[in-house]
Amino acid sequence: MKKTYSIALIPGDGTGPEVIAEGCKVLEAAAAKFHFGLHFVRFDFGGERYMKTGELLADSAIQELRGFNAIYLGAIGHTDVKPGILEKGILLKLRFALDQYINLRPIRLYEGVETPIKNMGPAEIDYCVIRENSGDSYVGVGGNMMPGTPDEVAVQSSVYSRRQVDRCLRFAFEYTRTHGKKACGKGERNTLALVGKSNVLTYTFDLWNRAFEEIGAEYPDIVREYYHVDAVTLYQVQCPGMFDVIVTTNLFGDIITDLGAATQGGLGVASGGNINPDGVSMFEPIGGTAPLWTGKNAINPVAAIGSGMLMLEALGETQAAQAVDRAIREVVRTRMKSQLANQMGMTTTEVGDAIAENV
Ligand code: IPM
Ligand code: MN
Repeated sequence: MKKTYSIALIPGDGTGPEVIAEGCKVLEAAAAKFHFGLHFVRFDFGGERYMKTGELLADSAIQELRGFNAIYLGAIGHTDVKPGILEKGILLKLRFALDQYINLRPIRLYEGVETPIKNMGPAEIDYCVIRENSGDSYVGVGGNMMPGTPDEVAVQSSVYSRRQVDRCLRFAFEYTRTHGKKACGKGERNTLALVGKSNVLTYTFDLWNRAFEEIGAEYPDIVREYYHVDAVTLYQVQCPGMFDVIVTTNLFGDIITDLGAATQGGLGVASGGNINPDGVSMFEPIGGTAPLWTGKNAINPVAAIGSGMLMLEALGETQAAQAVDRAIREVVRTRMKSQLANQMGMTTTEVGDAIAENV
């Protein structure tokens, strides 16, 4: 009997629904070609629903989502809702409740895509960031005192437990072993770089560094490196070719992957996955809701389609994932004028159609 995956769709806000529609189109094409089934169930969480009903994400919804093979999400955020409410109440709540403790973000420049960095090409801009996704200043430990007064104080702490650090690093070493540059035939060695700020955040990165060395000793085939995060932003621009796999904390990972996205041609191309290796993972393009382009059939769906590709990989549909990857590269190289919204030389739906046909 043919295998069928049930996928929860959370198209969300802004251009989310438009890019998810194209992603589904491509996933359907891959499913037909490689003989598996996809059963999509749509959830309308997001800004519109919140404004109508006041509901963000009920516990019962989280329970229901646990029953799916994966979640495919567009974007969360609404111009009419105060920043933080939807992000914390939906996106971060999902990541935390489903314990998606890894945020996997490949930084890849496709052939034919313009990068703002002079003299760099697909050979140099080709690395992956493993962003810890469950701790740090994202956990909401903190508060304020005397708000609105001149003596107001605000504290928001970065929190990490050894268990959180260990499981993230273990994932990172395993990932490097299977997806590092040597493993992919692109280099002489598999390298995992820990990115931190051990010269200032001494408590946090003492913990991370010790765990990195201890767990790393179990992976003698992997070269270990350490860089401060400020230096990394410089290297991402000046010599990105030095990176293979990067592992870092939640907030640093958030920041360096936006810079990475810029180097790979913009948020229209940058894909990601929130992974729980033992549970339900959620795949989303890392760009936001792009309110300027909503409803104009002008947004770039490549990042969402690439996230769908990561989902196929995680589901174990390796051949289908490779076919989608090839199709993306082909259409990007031969058909798209730019990766920027409204400058692609094609509409959103045309890009989706072209990639689906190519699969
Ligand atoms: C991301 C986003 C989110 C984050 C926001 C929307 C909460 O920037 O996925 O990178 O900070 O993780
Ligand atoms: Mn971000």
